[in-house]
Amino acid sequence: MMDFALEWVALFMLSLFMNDLSSDSGMVSHEDTTLNFTELAIKYGQTCEEHDVITEDGYILKLFHIPGDKTRPVLLISGNMGSADEYIVRGNTSLAIALAKANYDVWGGNVRGCKYSRRHLTLDPDVDDGFWDFSFHEYGIYDMPAFIDYILTDTEQKQVNVIGFSIGTTVFYILGSERPEYNEKVKIKISLAPAAYLSHSVSVSAVSVFAPIINRFLLRAGQEELYSENSTTIRLIRRVCSTPLSAYVCLILFFFPICGYDSKGIEPDFAPIAIAHYPTSVSRKNLLHLSQVANSKRFPKFDYGVEENIARYGSESPPNYNLTAVTMKVALISGKNDLISTLPDVKLLKAKLPNVVDHIILKPKRFNHIDFTWGKNNHKVLFPHIFELLESQHV
Ligand SMILES: *[C@@H]1O[C@H](CO)[C@@H](O)[C@H](O)[C@H]1NC(C)=O
Ligand SMILES: *[C@@H]1O[C@H](CO)[C@@H](O)[C@H](O)[C@H]1NC(C)=O
Ligand SMILES: *[C@@H]1O[C@H](CO)[C@@H](O)[C@H](O)[C@H]1NC(C)=O
Ligand SMILES: *[C@@H]1O[C@H](CO)[C@@H](O)[C@H](O)[C@H]1NC(C)=O
Repeated sequence: MMDFALEWVALFMLSLFMNDLSSDSGMVSHEDTTLNFTELAIKYGQTCEEHDVITEDGYILKLFHIPGDKTRPVLLISGNMGSADEYIVRGNTSLAIALAKANYDVWGGNVRGCKYSRRHLTLDPDVDDGFWDFSFHEYGIYDMPAFIDYILTDTEQKQVNVIGFSIGTTVFYILGSERPEYNEKVKIKISLAPAAYLSHSVSVSAVSVFAPIINRFLLRAGQEELYSENSTTIRLIRRVCSTPLSAYVCLILFFFPICGYDSKGIEPDFAPIAIAHYPTSVSRKNLLHLSQVANSKRFPKFDYGVEENIARYGSESPPNYNLTAVTMKVALISGKNDLISTLPDVKLLKAKLPNVVDHIILKPKRFNHIDFTWGKNNHKVLFPHIFELLESQHV
């Protein structure tokens, strides 16, 4: 504990100093901090198409496509407040590029509200609060079906492989539960840091305790969108966390306490690239729903308050998602030091899901939550498992 604390203080002070240096010396940042998904794909030797996918309720979502063998489509869904960028920011050692090099047909999905998918047929995200009236429930019941159907039409396949991280796994449990006809359209769902129950996550619970207060404050301020690219918070984060050292301090201060401490998983040179792409815009309601899941110790739908719950659900409290109905093939992959998707919670999830084909616990002792997207050694410790699972579906 002591060395963590000392490291904190030392790095924090250094970061203030470094940030001063960087702001007036016009230090040039790494090119990959500014490239979008398409540009990164091209830089790392692939071709990339951008598709607009329209959901049943009118959202226009960006779906990136690195074309490969059409019989082997893979859809990638990021964690909360992320975008498809999470799967490509590691460049040549990222999952999107690794899959593309192995000739998979790679699709990078971007859920409603994130920086690539702030568009709607009739609603304006800058003006209409209605645009932001969603949580990850809607990612699950509208965005995933739209992506899946689009990919199946394009590839003329009956099934697609899906890989999700954190909330990107939750949305497929919601899909399988709320729209069971989609279970058959998923060949295998690989869950990185599976998330449904958050009852053993001390860090998420600690943050969620404050959620009702923060929520009331945001409601009063009329702030439905959080972390917009133009917001003061994001500008500040991107500016302060812009050098290798200061960005690494941001990881230590803001990410490690919540996600698990792993000083070897991410190197300082990569930290500014990671933080330049994350977080991206999200709705207030999404984070509120997440805190409700954590506080409830179950896996419930959105809690609208007693009166509206009765009208919508016929019960005073929101019902749980029905994990028994999630019949798609699921593989779970966990990190031992993941403080968000904890092993006891994944065990609860595994016991409910009817079709779990494997639960892999990664070897490195310190493998934490963010290592799943940003980890330096993923191409060695994580991808081989993913390739093995995907290949097992194509024999
Ligand atoms: C990504 O960058 C390219 C090149 O600048 C641009 O044409 C494209 O519209 C960008 N894509 C998105 C989704 O922002
Ligand atoms: C990425 O790897 C490919 C080989 O697979 C190599 O040709 C290319 O130069 C690498 N790109 C970068 C930017 O490192
Ligand atoms: C940010 O501001 C610019 C310039 O005002 C605008 O063009 C852009 O759409 C805004 N982006 C977001 C995500 O709000
Ligand atoms: C959950 O789904 C299973 C399988 O489809 C079904 O048999 C069961 O009745 C459902 N439970 C609830 C509470 O809806």
